Amino acid sequence: MSLSQRMMRMSESQTVALNSTLARLRREGKDVVALGAGEPDFDTPGHIKEAGIAAIEQGYTKYTPAEGSVELREAISQWLLEEYKVQYKTQEIVVTCGAKYAVFQAVLAVCDPGDEVLLPKPYWVSYPEMIQLADAVMRPIDPADRNHLKITPEELERAITPKTRLLILNSPSNPSGAVYSPEELAGLVRVIQKSGIYVLADEIYDKIVFTREGFASMTQFPEIRDQLLLVNGVSKSYAMTGWRIGYLAAPEAIAQAVKKYQGHTTSNPTSISQKAAVAAMTGPKDFIADMHKAFLARRDYVHRRLTTIPHLPCLLPEGAFYAFPDVSFYYGREKNGQRISDSTSLCQYLLETHGVAIVPGIAFGMDTHVRLSFATSMAELERALDRIEQGLSSLG
Ligand SMILES: Cc1ncc(COP(=O)(O)O)c(C=O)c1O
Repeated sequence: MSLSQRMMRMSESQTVALNSTLARLRREGKDVVALGAGEPDFDTPGHIKEAGIAAIEQGYTKYTPAEGSVELREAISQWLLEEYKVQYKTQEIVVTCGAKYAVFQAVLAVCDPGDEVLLPKPYWVSYPEMIQLADAVMRPIDPADRNHLKITPEELERAITPKTRLLILNSPSNPSGAVYSPEELAGLVRVIQKSGIYVLADEIYDKIVFTREGFASMTQFPEIRDQLLLVNGVSKSYAMTGWRIGYLAAPEAIAQAVKKYQGHTTSNPTSISQKAAVAAMTGPKDFIADMHKAFLARRDYVHRRLTTIPHLPCLLPEGAFYAFPDVSFYYGREKNGQRISDSTSLCQYLLETHGVAIVPGIAFGMDTHVRLSFATSMAELERALDRIEQGLSSLG
């Protein structure tokens, strides 16, 4: 059997080996605490589920327009107006099967083979693969500021070449939890505007932000509106990961190209989920505040526990639900014949010997770090942090 070059180029997920160890340990009946999840542990709110059920009962179970129903695109347009005071026409919005498919199609829509895409480290695991699938070239930007893990305008400017087509900026960040302030974004925007490149702003965690000044959206810079590809969705804000609804808001020509591509690949996002997403975007918002409160308490707890472990610097997550400590102090040590040389071996050690599953930073382009998700109960977090603490302290 021979696979296409394109498929062969796609790398195996960095967490495959860890996942198989996790599955084996669980099969053997071992008690493992897993902090790998990338989704809220809350249930989808009742009124949203009911809208999905009503859609089924009322026969809203057929194809919709490829770009999503007018009703949902109007709801998104209204939401963007209320949240960010920006006007997006329905022709500039495409509803997609999850935010992930919005990112992928946006990359495809603007990149030709050989075009360069700038990707600040640490980056979400799927971006490099999407860039590769578009036959574009990934150019990582390594932020010098290890305390905040954010790039500066100077770093962005230095990375731009005549071949640069796109910057992907994810704030709040998965995996670091870093959030760009309005001033920091303004600095980047000046470079983006001057260079004429596109910027894909992945704002999927915009409702999970813990800074006093709140979330700064790329939509707040009208001077780059024609260069902005905005990605968001309902997965994280409304605990709807399984419903698979995201969207792209972009200049009309780009939105229309994506509509065409989507029409030939998925036809349309699920009709039932679109009805549920309308209920999410137009319905009561108290769920978001409740979820936010729980995440904030967990964020404080996880950060306090991590930073009391010796030699474990960790930036205070300002958004999303991940902590991203630097574990490199522990590299080069050995325990029971197991040598800790990188983020993968450290995670393997913590999993096998201490029963706690976290994600190696190499998956996000930063081998010095590991990612913990705090999208789980406080009781589970306590157990997990006890184990991490024990595991690292026994390495000395
Ligand atoms: C940064 C980032 N973008 C996009 C997504 C994808 O969201 P969705 O589940 O809506 O496809 C995720 C999910 O983990 C994410 O972390």
